[in-house]
Amino acid sequence: MRKTVFCATTALVIGSCQQAEQPSDAKDFTEARVDSLLSQMTLEEKVGQLNMYNGTWDFTGPVPEQADAQEREDQIRSGGVSAMLNVLTPEAICAAQRMAVEQSRLGIPMLFGYDVIHGYKTMMPIPLGQASSWDPTVAERANRVAAAEATSEGLSLAFGPMVDITPDARWGRIMEGAGEDPFLAARMAEGWVKGFQGADLSERHSIAACAKHFAGYGFAEAGKEYNTTDMSDQTLLNVVLPPFHAAVDAGCAAIMNGFNDLNGVPVTADAYIQRTQLKEAWGFDGFVLSDFNSVPELVTHGYSADMPEAGKAAFLAGSDMEMESRLYERHLLDQVRSGEVSEELIDDAVRRVLRIKFRLGLFENPYKYCEAEGIEIMSEAHLQEARDLARQSMVLLKNEAATLPLQKDASIGVIGRLAQSKDVPLGNWRAQAVENSAVSLLEGIRVAAGSKVEFAEGYRISAGRRSFIFDMEWADPSEKGFGEAIQLARRSDVVVMALGEDCYQTGEGRSQTDVGLKGDQLELFHAVRAVNPNVVVVLMNGRPLAVPDIQQHASAILESWHAGSQAGHAIADILFGDHNPSGKLPVSFPHRTGQEPLYYNHKKTGRPVTNDFDKGLVFWAHYSDAPVEALYPFGYGLSYSRFIYSELEINDSILRSGDDLEVRVRLTNDSKVAGEEVIQLYIRDPYGSLTRPVKELKAFQKIHLEAGESQLVSFRLSEEDLAYHWSRERFEAEPGRFEVYVGGNSREVLQTAFTFR
Ligand code: NOJ
Repeated sequence: MRKTVFCATTALVIGSCQQAEQPSDAKDFTEARVDSLLSQMTLEEKVGQLNMYNGTWDFTGPVPEQADAQEREDQIRSGGVSAMLNVLTPEAICAAQRMAVEQSRLGIPMLFGYDVIHGYKTMMPIPLGQASSWDPTVAERANRVAAAEATSEGLSLAFGPMVDITPDARWGRIMEGAGEDPFLAARMAEGWVKGFQGADLSERHSIAACAKHFAGYGFAEAGKEYNTTDMSDQTLLNVVLPPFHAAVDAGCAAIMNGFNDLNGVPVTADAYIQRTQLKEAWGFDGFVLSDFNSVPELVTHGYSADMPEAGKAAFLAGSDMEMESRLYERHLLDQVRSGEVSEELIDDAVRRVLRIKFRLGLFENPYKYCEAEGIEIMSEAHLQEARDLARQSMVLLKNEAATLPLQKDASIGVIGRLAQSKDVPLGNWRAQAVENSAVSLLEGIRVAAGSKVEFAEGYRISAGRRSFIFDMEWADPSEKGFGEAIQLARRSDVVVMALGEDCYQTGEGRSQTDVGLKGDQLELFHAVRAVNPNVVVVLMNGRPLAVPDIQQHASAILESWHAGSQAGHAIADILFGDHNPSGKLPVSFPHRTGQEPLYYNHKKTGRPVTNDFDKGLVFWAHYSDAPVEALYPFGYGLSYSRFIYSELEINDSILRSGDDLEVRVRLTNDSKVAGEEVIQLYIRDPYGSLTRPVKELKAFQKIHLEAGESQLVSFRLSEEDLAYHWSRERFEAEPGRFEVYVGGNSREVLQTAFTFR
């Protein structure tokens, strides 16, 4: 141990620097600084560290009673505000920081948080799109750019990643996460956290990540926003929590809880998930932030009798910092004085907040995020990154008779208003994106293919709705622009048709009961196809869509999602073969909305279909008016290369506890085009003390193969891969036979088996 001098607070830098022991290890050093600072704080100042104020009237939720500007400033000066959200200019952030650092007694710097979900100004593909890359480095690179831009404008805390598992396409926020599978979502969560936080939180362009929404929010009943969630402990522990656990293991600084009632307890007040799991079992040492107004909503839920009770319930359950609603500010002091809340718990919460501020380096330099550091927002390099990541996020769903890639000298009729939109590709949850700043599909095609490109709007959508209330009227049916579109289709060699959703049809508060194509889109598709059967559909959407007609009748389909700032160029790169697609679906696509929630890793039931004879009867698990399977299964996606799987084998028929197995498969690129394939490995525990899903993803690898190349690809499986939570207390693998499936999607797989002893 050696002695060093440090200043516990910035204000005291000028005043009374203290002597302290610096333990050898940086973590202990931070802890010592946290303790030292804590020992100087009054109870009022401690409670102040648990308040986050809203800085603007941004549309991020219902606006609760708000302090006026003067009152807010007084609170900051008295050390009563720990963090702010939605302060949107670097100037405002730096002014507020100066107030906290230079005018409050201890000068504790504030955090400035914002919803940075898939980019700040340079927009990356929506997270569901990024997850389609099945490549955590895509997530990391996307958030590196977002972190660079957001921190350049003064922000220190990103309200992301959203790692809610989402089995239901009706839920509008499905666009914001990694889809339906816990293993894939966990890998993406790690990438997103690393991208935000960089190698070290104290770097100039690292931003603290806040994984959300803890937990279960994506299981809203019937996909209805904010609805109740009700699930078994097995689902919670095996499906919902793993991506959060992965985010925590990746060093995620903060966790945001959610709005949902989970099995009778709104999660904001759920001590089991916040204290027992997150903080105790996983050892999370950052802070938990409530969601916007979720603490007072404990009263609305019918969980707490009144506002003081709501604040107390949230705090006792482990919600350390309150977003905006100020119940901690109003009631915690009295509750500590009356003995209802212990000061030890307050200290624990404050420590968590201070720890992150120290790790961010805010005590060394509270203005670090205010200093210009030469990052150019929307620079060429950032836009290039957006283009590359968008190409990797797209999924080729159909390519009949090698319709794609297109010839650049063909005459191309581009049809559909979405193709012209420079705004929709920016997606929802778009932070500070500049409206209409995306490269439209039409622009992308024109740049790539030149003069023989014509456009017809075809159907109408009202673009760019930012309002709270989604206008359900998609198009004005009296203004059908079909005539022009049909003429164009007739004289074109090939039609590229943009179909899908407006960006404000998805996102928070945008749940839908119908996930088919809205308005006249389908009608126009059929009218166009009747005069030109060579139709390439580019889907632009934020959720899985029920598009069986398109699947059946389009010549080719490219799922582009809402692909961000460079959408048009990235789509054109794929359409003309300058990039070979390799994306795979992170969600199942339904034939019909009524199949939702739809997910590949379901249970088998006692009456699955086992042969064609069963199909003639009605007494098996199915619908009598729609297929039982997905339209496109989880993991599905084509390439311009043709990949063949063969020679699946395991190096032993028995896996002994503590040992591992090697699973090998041969992948061959049986085509003339180099390409990348995501090889997926699933397991199944066919029977046991608890029933298990029909398949569970346990590993994947993206492999690049040159034309004609073949490679043996190897995976390792260990006991831990077989283990699952039987209950809150028990996580283990059950001895017996396990099936192994390997393939290019969750449906078409090779199969083998081994026994675990
Ligand atoms: C409510 C949303 O649920 C959450 O994800 C977001 O971070 C906050 N509002 C702040 O905007």
